[in-house]
Amino acid sequence: MKIAILSRGRNLYSTRRLHEAARLRGHQPRVLDTLKFGIDNEEGEPDLTFRGKPLSHYDAVIPRIGASITLYGTAVVRQFEQMGVFCLNSSQAISVSRDKLRSMQILSRHKIGIPKTAFVHELDQIVPTIDSMGGPPVVIKLLEGTQGIGVILADTASVAKSIIEVLQGAANQNVLIQEFVKESRGRDIRAFVVGNRVVAAMRRVAQGDEFRSNVHRGGIAEPVDLDPEFERTALHAAQIMGLRVAGVDMLEGKDGPKLMEINSSPGLEGIEAATGIDVAGSIIELIEEEVLFPEIDIRQRLTLQSGYGVLEVPVDEKSELANRKINETGLRDRDVVVLSIHRGPVAIPNPKGSREILAGDVLLCFGKTLTLKSLAPRGPKRKRKKKKGVGAAPDAASPAATSVIASTPAAAADDTPPALAGDEPVGVVDANPGLVTARAAEAEPPADAADRENETKSAGRAGERSRDEGE
Ligand SMILES: Nc1ncnc2c1ncn2[C@@H]1O[C@H](COP(=O)(O)OP(=O)(O)O)[C@@H](O)[C@H]1O
Ligand SMILES: [Mg+2]
Repeated sequence: MKIAILSRGRNLYSTRRLHEAARLRGHQPRVLDTLKFGIDNEEGEPDLTFRGKPLSHYDAVIPRIGASITLYGTAVVRQFEQMGVFCLNSSQAISVSRDKLRSMQILSRHKIGIPKTAFVHELDQIVPTIDSMGGPPVVIKLLEGTQGIGVILADTASVAKSIIEVLQGAANQNVLIQEFVKESRGRDIRAFVVGNRVVAAMRRVAQGDEFRSNVHRGGIAEPVDLDPEFERTALHAAQIMGLRVAGVDMLEGKDGPKLMEINSSPGLEGIEAATGIDVAGSIIELIEEEVLFPEIDIRQRLTLQSGYGVLEVPVDEKSELANRKINETGLRDRDVVVLSIHRGPVAIPNPKGSREILAGDVLLCFGKTLTLKSLAPRGPKRKRKKKKGVGAAPDAASPAATSVIASTPAAAADDTPPALAGDEPVGVVDANPGLVTARAAEAEPPADAADRENETKSAGRAGERSRDEGE
């Protein structure tokens, strides 16, 4: 296989290891500087150039997109996707995981432990929001910070307010307010997910007074026997975010894991050094297994024909669908297919016609929009649960004072679990292979020190630290 490793520096530890692991397995890896691509769009022919020349054919792409080039990097990955080339992590998943607010919003509807996390616009909402989270201390975070930079501990609500005032005002930065998980102070767990496995895990311990355990902030990494609950959380979170490869960071809360963030280009240096595990090798093995399944935007492909759409249909007792087998409902005759059924903690992909639909199920359906609309539940929407211990409810404030609070839901009812118990095998969808054609081969560019972006100046194992999302 010809594998493109998108990276800004061939000498970075992770890049070198991936290159080496691919070569050892008989592949042809090339390190291509993400910023040297040009994106060409012509009718029916999405294309890429590299250093101004047409790009040759690649079978797979490993994106190693640093936080400072997310926009350009994800645009290049997206272009590979449009060309039908397998990308280890999708552009969409990289963008979402890069934004701490977006990630928390998405994770908060699932049964995954997360610290209470709020986002407010109006300064006068900061103190009530902190109160509603159980009071100070709280952690203030830049939405797109990395390596511990932009993570601040505020001991009092007024200090928190002053910090946010400066960041929002002078620095024009949006920030999150997060519950401080005291019991995990200075320690966290990094689980390295590759496909459907956690291949390695480490605990990072901050040194001295520091509460941030990032290796870049002096944290020391040690191997850890991962508790099954942490493993389940890491796998579930990576699956929700749609990342095949992810570094999942979790605090050790008193009630179990509290997920902080998911990195889409996790560094290999700390984890391989701490555990002695060949993580790069498992990444290449995963590519070998999955290269035939390039990313496709399912919603976009399924809705090319106007009048067709994808809809989630909750089934209640009164629904015409409740307590009937799928093939008795007449859905197929009305041009609707049930893609999956979500039933409590279980997902049933590709349900057979003989599968009975129960009240409480949520059906993911594709088909004629008119029929789908007729299936949508009528009557008043489900009422919101009143939260325990929340003081000033955010929506009790003035309409302009918006506040979003994410935390682990109390009940598992609306959790989307990993797929279980498939009724039938999932089909393979061809992702536009005709668009990838053979082109001139590009030479490996020389390592260019000037190209390097903000590499860590500190002595020793500097290299990749600034490039990867951090350890
Ligand atoms: N809510 C929190 N409670 C306790 N410690 C935290 C919390 N959030 C972050 N930390 C500490 O700060 C470090 C950096 O936070 P994180 O959200 O991972 O930002 P970054 O993307 O910069 O690594 C974490 O590894 C952890 O040690
Ligand atoms: Mg982190």
